[in-house]
Formats: sequence, C-alpha cells, structure tokens
Amino acid sequence: SAGSAANAQTELGFKAVPVSNANQVVVPEGYSATAFLPWGTPITGSYPEFRADASSTGAEQEQQVGMHHDGLHFFPIDQKAGGNSSTEGLLVMNHEYINQAALHQNGATYVAGERPADEVRKEIAAHGVSVVHIKQDSEGTWDVVFGSPFNRRITGGTEMDIRGPVRGNAKLVTKFSPTGTETRGTLNNCAMGPTPWGTYLAAEENWHGYFANSNPDQPREQTRHGVGNSSRYDWELADSGADEYVRFDVTPGLGDPDTDYRNEANTYGYMVEIDPFTPEAKPQKRTALGRFGHEGVIFAPVTEGKPVVCYSGDDSRFEYIYKFVSSQPYSAATAGGYLLDEGTLYVAKFNDDGSGEWLALSLEDADFAAKVAAAERTMVGDIDFDGFEDQADVLLNTRLAADIAGATPMDRPEWGAVDPNTGEVYFTLTNNSNRTEEQTDAANPQAENRTGHIIRWTEENNDHAAISFDWDIFVFGGEQGTETVVDGEAVVTLDDDNIFNSPDGLWFDYNGRLWIQTDGSDAEPYQNNMMLAANPVTREIKRFFVGPVGCEVTGVVTTPDVKTMFVNIQHPDANWPFGAEGDHPRDATVIVTRNDGGVIGA
Ligand code: FEO
Ligand code: CA
Ligand code: CA
Ligand code: CA
Repeated sequence: SAGSAANAQTELGFKAVPVSNANQVVVPEGYSATAFLPWGTPITGSYPEFRADASSTGAEQEQQVGMHHDGLHFFPIDQKAGGNSSTEGLLVMNHEYINQAALHQNGATYVAGERPADEVRKEIAAHGVSVVHIKQDSEGTWDVVFGSPFNRRITGGTEMDIRGPVRGNAKLVTKFSPTGTETRGTLNNCAMGPTPWGTYLAAEENWHGYFANSNPDQPREQTRHGVGNSSRYDWELADSGADEYVRFDVTPGLGDPDTDYRNEANTYGYMVEIDPFTPEAKPQKRTALGRFGHEGVIFAPVTEGKPVVCYSGDDSRFEYIYKFVSSQPYSAATAGGYLLDEGTLYVAKFNDDGSGEWLALSLEDADFAAKVAAAERTMVGDIDFDGFEDQADVLLNTRLAADIAGATPMDRPEWGAVDPNTGEVYFTLTNNSNRTEEQTDAANPQAENRTGHIIRWTEENNDHAAISFDWDIFVFGGEQGTETVVDGEAVVTLDDDNIFNSPDGLWFDYNGRLWIQTDGSDAEPYQNNMMLAANPVTREIKRFFVGPVGCEVTGVVTTPDVKTMFVNIQHPDANWPFGAEGDHPRDATVIVTRNDGGVIGA
C-alpha cells in the first residue's frame, strides 16, 4: 500500500541521542556536525574580515552574514534549469534579531540619550536575509563561492516594493514613498518558505517591537500588535538624526509631514519575496497574504491549472492560522510572484468534533460581510470597531478581521509543514502559558500550555483549496510519560529518547521524515534545545540533535539527496562555536552529514 511505501522511506534508522547541557552540538553515532557561516562571515563586496572583538563597522556588517540565524532554504544552483544539484547551491537564510551585547565590542552605547549612528547602522545590517552561494569541494567540504554575483545581503534598510491589494493605500504613504508603494527594510524575519517558482519568502514576525509610539492613542493598525512607547533597540535615537533611523518613531507628528512617520509601521508585517537567482531584483512585500506576526509560510504542492495555496501561522498567544488561495491558476511555464497578489485569505476554525473550516476574510464573502456589518460600532477586543473601508483595510488589519470572522485562537502557531507523501498539513503550537481552563478547546486542550503540541489536518478530498478539513493532534510535548491519546489508546508516550517542549521549527524532508525543532525551557528534564525526527506514519519520534547552551534550534533544510543537512543555531550563549576566539557567541549554521555518506535520518 501507499502507507507502507511511505513508511519504508520514513523509518528512523539512527540511535536517539540523550538530552544534553553541553556547550556543543550533539548528533547520533556515525554523524558529524560542523559550524558554518557564523555571524560576521564576509560574503559580498570587499569581503571584510570578521573581527573577533566585534569591532566591525556598520558598513562591514552590510557585507557579512547577519546575526540570529533562523529559517533557511537550499536552492540547487541548477534549479532554474530543472536540475537538482546537491553539491552547489544558494543557501538563503533569515536573521531574526540581534543581541546588542554580542554584536558590539561593548554592547549598545548611549550618549546624552542618543545612540551612535554607526551602531544603529550595524544593528539594522545584522537583520534581514543572507543569500550565500556555496559549493562542496572534492573532499566534501562546503565553502562560500567568493565573488559570486549571487552573494547578497538584504537588511532592515534595503528598498522594497509593496505589492498586492495594500499597495498604494493611504495608510502606507510615507515621506520615503509618497505613493505608498515602497518601503525600506524587512525585520524580525523568523521562518520562511520556498515558493514553487524558485523564490524565497521571508516572514516578518515581531516587527512591532522595532517601532516606538509615545502617543497612548494609537491607531488600530498598531494596537492590535502592541507597538510600545519605546522600541526594542532605540534606533530612532540615532545621533545622526537621519530619516532612515528616525522613522522608527511612529508617534504622529504635529502636522509636519517631515517628522510624521506614523505609517512606517504599516509597511511591515508581511511576507517578503526575494528572488535569490536575480540579485538585482527588489524584494516584494506580498500584502495579499495578510499583515500579522508572520512566523513563516508553507506552500502546498502545486498542480498545473489549480490555484497556488500556502499556509502561515501568526505566532502570538491566541492568534490564528491562515491560508491563502490564489485567484489565478498555477502554470509551471508562467508561475511567479504575481500569483500571490490576487486571491482569498482564509483563517482557520477548529471545531471540537475534529472538523474544521476555512473562513474567508473577504468583503466579497457574504458570511464575512455580514459579520463585519454586525460588528460595526461594537468593541472587538480592545478596538472600537468602525468598519473596514475596503479589502486593503481588511488585509492591513488581518488580526482584527480574523477576530470578527470567529477564528480559533491558537497556542502560538509557529512553523507549518506539508507531508510530501500524504498532503497532510502539520503546524507547531509552541506553548501558551496564558490559556485558562475556560479557554481550552479540543484543538488547544491544555490550560497553561507550557510544553506545546503539533496539530495536523487533511483538507477535504485532499484539495488544498478546500474550505473544510479534518484535524487531529499528532503529538503533545512534555516530560517522560506524556501521552497522546487517540480513540482511548496512547499512540505516543514520550520517554528519554524523545521528551521535548515548545516545538517551533518544523520541516518535512524530501523523503517524508518530519523534523521538529524546539525553542523552549532548558530546565530539567529537557536541558538544551534540540531537534527530533518523526515518522509521520507510525508517530515514532527520536531525538537527533541537541544544540549548545542557551540557543534555540531553528531552521533546517537538506540538499535534494538528503545527504547534507543545514541546521541553524540561534542566540547561543558563551563563546560557541569557537571557544577561545573571544567572548562573543556567534550564531551559525551547522552542517550535519553521515560519516558513511548516507541519507540523513535513514
Ligand atoms: Fe520567531 Fe515565533 O519564532
Ligand atoms: Ca527565535
Ligand atoms: Ca520560531
Ligand atoms: Ca519560538
């Protein structure tokens, strides 16, 4: 049967590794792990050498790999020509945020309430995305291809286009873009998704933290996300007073368009398309996929003549899972980012009986339009709702629209993954310590959920564009003895080989093994964050990898032959990975291979 064929491909052939609190990566017997592309690795321009005391300038950081590695993807170098190289490609990765203490020689500096502009420049440059052309030599060692035209840094300052329904909206008009069609930078890029046409979508997750608004009376475009009265890194305090930094203060000005940056925050919160094979192409913010705290995106397999479908989680407590279905059909000959500019955005409702519905967030949908009309002049959460002007306004306020639609508030939806053998969609729900007993439901059944779970569903008739689905819980995280029960039977009971908490990264490899990464408590009994492999057919789960002290393990991909695996280590502590080199820890990509050259996980 198809089931047993899939099972043969998805068996876990390695010996599970124990939990660890060592300041090093642990992989199974017969495997090797090597740090690669640490923060500061020169990749473009004059290839400025990383300085171990972290004294590099902002201009140097703009030519070096960024900090806090997150989602990543390997594009075979010959992909556009239909090839499948596993020895050369473009490794594209996100840099979610920074650790100021490690980024600078002596941490963040303030002089008379201002920050040196070059520190701010460096911090913005350490964010964003790196595109790195890499190649394996005859000995099997991976290295950067120096001088490659594909090597590229995209940062929190790179110019980008706004696309889709929100393009040109009055609420996106800024001093920088009086037409509301462009912006500068992408920030807090957590996970990502490769598109079916060979581009990369980077998610903008906790973008709200980069802006300050000292006016307590904020617009709904900000309140529903929690823009605070000070920003996470104080970029708006740069002593140069340059517009590119001051713009992070979105407090409405006193009628002076030169000091009023209120709409800057409205140009963030999107999925950003980057074409790694076209270095001169501007990144494109795809607004039809909604504006929220995008964790990442996962595309369903495409079929000629059918719509393109992708899923995206909003990682915040009690937020939602979304799905975009394109208006235009997929065609391999013409597919491109335009497919993401027109379509329907849906939000998930998980019913307690194991069924689910996709609720359209479209004013053209009669049910949604009726709910919007009924909600007018009422309080929706903390927002005094006075209606939506048009569909662009709906998308700009996606969370509010989903509240009105009656979606199911989830336990922090992080990454999604689609099983290549069955089409089932999996999502991690990392944790939600704020959920009360009264707020539990079948899909989020644990009060004060600290350990998280993984939910999955099958679309009706396995059609990803369907508007109904059937769901179940794949596994609950937790300590030894934690059970996942189906029809009265414990289908998983966690033990020493697989206890975990706070699942975050999630990826199906090309054979159909499921990789689960954690970003949780490193207290006993879990110790350091880790990555496990799961067989989706049998629900067997084994710990494959443990990260160094203090890190989260996030971002995983392999070459097409599944013989080289790239795993990102984010915010390590101490001086991982190089120890004696200096006190500055360096986020890095870990390359995992099997000593006998075999398939990872088999
Ligand atoms: Fe950036 Fe939701 O993790
Ligand atoms: Ca993170
Ligand atoms: Ca994450
Ligand atoms: Ca997380």
